[in-house]
Amino acid sequence: MNKRIIYLFFIFSNLLIAESFLIKSKGYLDISTGEIVEADILIIDGKIAEIGLIDESENVTVISLPNLILLPGLMDSHVHIVGNDSKGEESIADSSHMGTVWGVVNAKKTLMAGFTTVRNVGAANYADVALRDAINRGIIEGPTMLVSGPALGITGGHCDHNLLPPEFNYSSEGVVDSPWEARKMVRKNRKYGADLIKFCATGGVMSRNTDVNAKQFTLEEMRAIVDEAHNHGMKVAAHAHGLKGIRAAIEAGVDSIEHASFIDDETIEMAIKNNTVLSMDIFVSDYILGEGIEAGIREESLNKERLVGQKQRENFLNAHRKGATITFGTDAGIFDHGDNAKQFAYMVEWGMTPLESIQASTIRTAQLFGLENIGEIKVGFDADIIGVIENPLNNIRTLEGVAFVMKEGKIYKK
Ligand code: ARG
Repeated sequence: MNKRIIYLFFIFSNLLIAESFLIKSKGYLDISTGEIVEADILIIDGKIAEIGLIDESENVTVISLPNLILLPGLMDSHVHIVGNDSKGEESIADSSHMGTVWGVVNAKKTLMAGFTTVRNVGAANYADVALRDAINRGIIEGPTMLVSGPALGITGGHCDHNLLPPEFNYSSEGVVDSPWEARKMVRKNRKYGADLIKFCATGGVMSRNTDVNAKQFTLEEMRAIVDEAHNHGMKVAAHAHGLKGIRAAIEAGVDSIEHASFIDDETIEMAIKNNTVLSMDIFVSDYILGEGIEAGIREESLNKERLVGQKQRENFLNAHRKGATITFGTDAGIFDHGDNAKQFAYMVEWGMTPLESIQASTIRTAQLFGLENIGEIKVGFDADIIGVIENPLNNIRTLEGVAFVMKEGKIYKK
């Protein structure tokens, strides 16, 4: 038998057993060329089985979306789905159980907004692992999640919890203060189901009493984290605003720098050479300095945001111009989950074409996540497909109101 016959046989046999859909739409956005392709999409068993002009057959459910343009499901490389971050100090009394409950709600909002895959970077008590697994088992609805478990950080650093007074003697689960403690924590995170490792390489905006410019961890500690994680096939994401921390993290071999706010020309070159991806959350600043004030964000954080926000946008523009790989990462959780797509317009305002901003949230994120079968509408890929009412290349903000969501061949929004 030739290949074509084997293939038809494969499709036919699958039609008998699997749930199959034929999506008819205005067309789909080819993510590599920017062309709108007028074609039907056949989905069998959660995968894209055929693209073209396809006749309706009896065994297939037709999904008619004549007013929608389809594109691959969106991805966010930096979210905090577990917990209720935006409510400031009020949430300090929330247990990790409460954080997980919030996570259930947040995961659903994220999926309904068209984000079919996200990377959750930091959660206490492996609540993120539980959420991911509950979604995969079909217990709750949410995006495909890659999760880090507790983020690693130094005592008193951005990834430690500094709001409680000393008599509570509290430190976050991921606090490690030597290369060997760091290795042990990486091993523990892997043991309990983390997909990747997150660590804090500088102070942060939202944490109490940390300096965004101060490097956290020694190069030796960062190297230990990366070596241990890579040894287990896990990627590493480093939170870093200040230059010293960004440089050390790149030197240590991390896969992505989160925020990258103060990155300069030389360090952009360094990132390009080392294949380090930048995940720059350039929308969140407007939230923090706008609604965030009412939501209870502390004065210290507002002041730090005033230092970081504008600079980060300028450096985003520069890094993109110089050819750095930038993914779509938003820090959703500071602002409401489901509003992730608001960042597209900012990425366009700060130098990307609309197509580049969508690629940042599809092909580029898939590459960073190490996932080969998502991020494009292509035969053999997972049927993670969304629909919008306009061509997003003409109006990027159409992505803020996604009308159709399918994840792995299952419809969640229509
Ligand atoms: N989680 C980050 C931090 O606390 C948020 C930074 C937000 N600001 C920004 N301009 N991206 O440091």
